[in-house]
Amino acid sequence: MVFYFTGTGNSLYIAKQMEETPISIPQTIHRKTQEYSADSIGIVAPVYGHEVPAMVKEFLKNAVFHTDYFYMILTYGNRHGGAAELAKQLCDECGIAVNYINVIVMADNWLPGFDMNEQRKMDKRVEENMAAILADLAERKDMISEVTDTDRAAHQQFLDRMSQMPADAWQHLLRVTEDCIGCGICEKVCPSASIQVIDGKAVHVPGNCQTCLACAHACPQKAIRLTIPEVNPEARYRNEHISLQEIMDANCQRSKKE
Ligand SMILES: Cc1cc2nc3c(=O)[nH]c(=O)nc-3n(C[C@H](O)[C@H](O)[C@H](O)COP(=O)(O)O)c2cc1C
Repeated sequence: MVFYFTGTGNSLYIAKQMEETPISIPQTIHRKTQEYSADSIGIVAPVYGHEVPAMVKEFLKNAVFHTDYFYMILTYGNRHGGAAELAKQLCDECGIAVNYINVIVMADNWLPGFDMNEQRKMDKRVEENMAAILADLAERKDMISEVTDTDRAAHQQFLDRMSQMPADAWQHLLRVTEDCIGCGICEKVCPSASIQVIDGKAVHVPGNCQTCLACAHACPQKAIRLTIPEVNPEARYRNEHISLQEIMDANCQRSKKE
């Protein structure tokens, strides 16, 4: 049993290597009963500010897992900042006995930091690193990926920077430009119903935004921009192995099923 969260497909691509039909966290988060039993249970999620997205934290806090082998695979783009150690702490807080946590570097979809056209061209040895992780999982290895003092310092620096910003700054990261044609793709790829088409135009509703940037990356008009400078506002990203339909199926909140 594999659960995943994704904005632009990297984490879904990895989750699909572990299981043919992994389970989307945004599609299960609303269930009243969150109790899962399986021989092994995995979580695949991106790293945001060195930690897992808020919705993944919520899922781990609320769910009960019955398994002999629990693992987490965290996708990141540039600097994991000790993500494995932070995820281990989260599991401890949630009372989850975690066996294995690893990180895997992929294209970085953080628009203020990177040009997606450049990221797409970079060889981050995803297949090779994924094969190593799959081999670890096949032998049910017990391991938490190594974290250095430099990683910890990077995370502390990030936290210090964040403490200077208004608490809700991340909720105001997105803006919709005049180029919006109201096609509704943004609404369908949003895992938290934080963007809605109202009177033919997309409107970003702050509060529960995961800042996954799925809307900005998927907008065919490039009409969803950030409120802070982007490296290349004309370049957008989706994992090459994942279709737009798969992102919509993973995240769409329009018809939530129990
Ligand atoms: C809000 C946000 C924060 C991010 N923070 C980090 C980070 O701290 N370190 C890093 O290496 N990558 C960071 N990234 C990049 C993603 O972790 C990476 O591209 C990930 O593979 C995306 O997965 P997805 O395609 O499944 O959404 C961030 C991306 C976003 C949108």
